[in-house]
Amino acid sequence: MKILALFCFQLISCLAAFSQHNNISLIPQPVSITKGNGNFVLPGIITIAVTKDRDLIKIQSMLSNQLAAATGKKVQLVMIQKNTRANSIALAIVADKNIPKEGYRLQVSASGISLKATSAAGIFYGLQTLLQLLPKEIESKTAIATSWKIPFVTIEDQPRFGWRGVMLDVVRHWFTKEQVKDFIDDMVRFKFNMLHLHLSDDQGWRIEIKSLPKLTEVGAWRAPRTGRWGDFTKPTPDEPKTYGGFYTQEDMKELIQYAKDRYVTIMPEIDIPGHSLAAVAAYPELTCTTDSTYQVNAGERFMIWPGNGTFYGILDNTLCPANEKVYTFLDKVFTEIAAIFPYEYIHMGGDECYKGYWEKSDAVKQLMQKEGLKDMHEVQSYFVKRVQQIINSKGKKMMGWDEIMEGGLASGASVMSWQGMKGGTAAAKARHPVVMSPNDFAYVDLYQGDPIAEPPTYSKVLLKKSYEFNPLPPGVDSNYILGGQCNLWSERLTTVRHMQYMLWPRALAIAESVWSPASKKNWPDFIKRVELQFDRFDISETNYSRSMYDPAFIAKKDGAGELQIEMTTQIEGLSIHYSFDEFPPDNFYPSYLKPLSVPKDAANLKVVTYRGKYQVGKPINMPIAELKKRAKIN
Ligand code: ACM
Repeated sequence: MKILALFCFQLISCLAAFSQHNNISLIPQPVSITKGNGNFVLPGIITIAVTKDRDLIKIQSMLSNQLAAATGKKVQLVMIQKNTRANSIALAIVADKNIPKEGYRLQVSASGISLKATSAAGIFYGLQTLLQLLPKEIESKTAIATSWKIPFVTIEDQPRFGWRGVMLDVVRHWFTKEQVKDFIDDMVRFKFNMLHLHLSDDQGWRIEIKSLPKLTEVGAWRAPRTGRWGDFTKPTPDEPKTYGGFYTQEDMKELIQYAKDRYVTIMPEIDIPGHSLAAVAAYPELTCTTDSTYQVNAGERFMIWPGNGTFYGILDNTLCPANEKVYTFLDKVFTEIAAIFPYEYIHMGGDECYKGYWEKSDAVKQLMQKEGLKDMHEVQSYFVKRVQQIINSKGKKMMGWDEIMEGGLASGASVMSWQGMKGGTAAAKARHPVVMSPNDFAYVDLYQGDPIAEPPTYSKVLLKKSYEFNPLPPGVDSNYILGGQCNLWSERLTTVRHMQYMLWPRALAIAESVWSPASKKNWPDFIKRVELQFDRFDISETNYSRSMYDPAFIAKKDGAGELQIEMTTQIEGLSIHYSFDEFPPDNFYPSYLKPLSVPKDAANLKVVTYRGKYQVGKPINMPIAELKKRAKIN
């Protein structure tokens, strides 16, 4: 009997330990986790104890609100002199040489929860970890009855990079101030600390500039269109321009404060000299062509991409580098931008500027002669240097997309590398500060599964690829890599639900790539944590994509010129079930084991992925004709 009891005890302890380990599932992965044995259970009345500090009092109030909402418990605040207090959640800013700036030490034990940091930011990040240690029900906006246990653990943590960014394009589709606040709330759960707002483009101008009122009177509005971006019809001149919006300067100051309270910095981007059609529609004298018929783009195609990365514009969406009025205009813009945004950097875009209209301009030809500029790259470089002087004159530093390197990078400029890591690597080697946001890893607006089963966009970045993002290329001095960020362009995102679908879970992969030590990254383990995070998203009603479960299709021509289909999954341990008989397969259908040939007359390959008995992927219908097209079989 005794032996049986001992066995049962051991089994129960073993199961308890197993469940404890399961309870600790954090994104991004911390530097070190030392697991204990047992759980701290939140008492009937939760006490948050803080050392005397204005920022901590703000932080505890956010924590109180979340705890009170989800647990239904009363939460009280007490002030403490020392840095712990039994049976409470004690938040303390301490002088401790072993805790780096932005780092924290979190201890959960029988005597309560102690969170220490040397800065309020560190406390804030530690609390995001604590929230992930709590049961998933903490994500609920209304009270849920559950056992409010937190596993005993000691976590020591600090970020790998200081710049952990997300870029949100609020131009192509407009997101309101409240929606941006929600976006910030979502970002900070994964310790992102930089919100790069793309505020101007061909489709809109989204920030009030009081000295240039037409920028928002005209530039913030376009003809409404619904459907497939790029295929839209060109607005007629008299068509009402009813879609859009902009942030007043007061709105933006409110957003900046909201972000600051959550340890997020907002960096503004004004995208020039290309991508400027909204500004040009408002002030046509800013282009070399001075065409006054231009309108804010409504999503109709006007840049043509014939391939190999080349492009041309069928209208002039650029500011004229040879027109002094442009620099006067930019001085006004950046004077006001500098006064609104406290951050030290202003991003001036600089990407994808079509220079065909510059080439034809007499004014540009004269400028080239006067300044000894050889080609259009040097003309752009001249423009960028003039912009940098303006931005510097407002007490700010300039950042731009990697095209600002063409024709010679201005000294003191910082580069955001989007065309892969190449530009950023070269810039860092030339001792310029760099943020890595390469399109092949960090563009979270691209396809995350096969286009046949996804909302329309272009190109592709699978979750696994995002997880491989390493902002520090080999051979580069880490002092010049500020960090990394993911970019969410919004041409094709009309709603917050769609925005969330593109962001999650790929932004989780980016969060881990910019926060966690490279040595802690582990793809299979990450996937387990992502799956537990999905349960949390379900409770917080945040949308996300499950496309990581779907297969990739590789269509090939076999030796006889016939179609051969291979399928792979990003995640180990899934089975792909398929049918050619028009019935949607389940796990009773054949499992994909080797490349498939197509039965005579079959029109569709239907697939779905399972893990064991459970369906995880979505049903996909792949037309054989589509696969033949991909394999170049007529
Ligand atoms: C970019 O994606 N054009 C920066």
